[in-house]
Amino acid sequence: MQENKRGQWGSTFGFLMASIGSAIGLGNLWGFPYKMGSSGGFAFLVVYLILVVLAGVALMMGEFALGRKTGTGVGAYAALSKKYRVIGWMAAFCPFLILSFYAVLAGMTLRYCVGFLVQIFGADGFAGQGSSFFGFLLYDSKSMVLFLALAMIVTMVVVMGGIQGGIEKFSKAVMPALGVILIGIIIFVAMQPGAIEGYKFMFKPDFSVFADPKSFFNVLKTASGQMFFSLSLAMGINITFGSYLSKDKSIQKNAVIVPFSDTLFALLAGMMIMPACAAFGVDYGQGPGLLFASMQKVFLDGMGGTVGNVVGFLFYFLVFIAAITSSIALLEVCTSSVVDRQLRKGKEPNRKKISLVFAIAIFIVGLPAALDALGSGGAALKAPFELLGLEIGGSGYAMWNDCWLDFYDMITEGVLMPLGALLMSLLLGWGLPNLVKDECEEDGKPFRGAAYFKFAFRFLIPVIMVIVLATQIQSFFNL
Ligand code: TRP
Repeated sequence: MQENKRGQWGSTFGFLMASIGSAIGLGNLWGFPYKMGSSGGFAFLVVYLILVVLAGVALMMGEFALGRKTGTGVGAYAALSKKYRVIGWMAAFCPFLILSFYAVLAGMTLRYCVGFLVQIFGADGFAGQGSSFFGFLLYDSKSMVLFLALAMIVTMVVVMGGIQGGIEKFSKAVMPALGVILIGIIIFVAMQPGAIEGYKFMFKPDFSVFADPKSFFNVLKTASGQMFFSLSLAMGINITFGSYLSKDKSIQKNAVIVPFSDTLFALLAGMMIMPACAAFGVDYGQGPGLLFASMQKVFLDGMGGTVGNVVGFLFYFLVFIAAITSSIALLEVCTSSVVDRQLRKGKEPNRKKISLVFAIAIFIVGLPAALDALGSGGAALKAPFELLGLEIGGSGYAMWNDCWLDFYDMITEGVLMPLGALLMSLLLGWGLPNLVKDECEEDGKPFRGAAYFKFAFRFLIPVIMVIVLATQIQSFFNL
């Protein structure tokens, strides 16, 4: 009975598409290329890949197992024991805060998408600004708020549809299309003269950024945050998805397929954006604006004409769709945590009302991120550092005081997620050492790599997380 009310995946394919759809998003298309571009190129890539293989897969497996074992989302920790409840609260808070800035970015991609669409039909879609539209849009409060609202509305409508009717159907249709459009743009970009430098930046061995040990830790911190964000770890989402997975499905296999696909998409995004920058003379290291400002330059000034408008439209459409599949998952975590709670209390949950309330709250919390012009100064709303009377932070994109978006990001992927992963890892390594193995063996197949996973949960992941948290504290206080 509970099972029916909560819903369950119709098929493994549906589960995979939704999980991959949730994993692939702005983290891959926006975050990965810009972080790689400003954090050491090849060196960043290597650290990132090592982290995904050593920690990402194990963490994801742990979360799927926790969800299926307890049959609940972020409530999984509380279901195991009251004393673990706090990990669940931390995990539930992350999607809430992430979605509030994620929807701002999703809204911006929608604005670009609309802009290129209008241009295809001969009108001016970018307020006469051409490729400097990014700087203009940031200060256009009305548009920022309007498109934030639109992104939230689209997300909410799908979540209201429930598990099979909404999320699964939507993801199944959209994810394969996404891959096709992405590969098309990669091929197009590869044919541009000069593109080769972009591939060199990504794949030619170069560890010069590690000359200074401090920058090694900064790359580690950035790559780790990127891993959490991109794989949607430590925020209950994979626990929630695992809870909808039936017992005959393989957790281990899925915990490899999802990170693998996600990393593949990040690499593809890099192979689209980096060569494009190289070919059209755009700086790799320009930070969060890379996706917007630079790619728009590529389409408008580089390609130009109708081709540029059409490819530009396809590109931003792709990014918007990827962002929406993730936003859906983010809102679903928030919604399902309350749905489950009410079911536990024997109440009849109203999914639609719960989604609506969350959507409105997230919209409100997202407003500062939409109104501070990403900390460029002189915007409708002051950035956190301006409110504190500080100077604009020196060392680039990850400074906690740059803007509200970075501030929210720092709280989540910089602090709460590593902390959550640390606690979960200790719990699965020491507190309940058989949980993952037992749950993974429910499908009748033996648990593979037991010795490694035990080591990872007990020592490896906790150590990495402590280093990441220490680096975060160090850079927060500028020590
Ligand atoms: N992983 C998503 C991306 O790469 C973003 C994300 C973060 C997310 N946390 C999530 C998606 C939780 C779904 C659920 O863009």
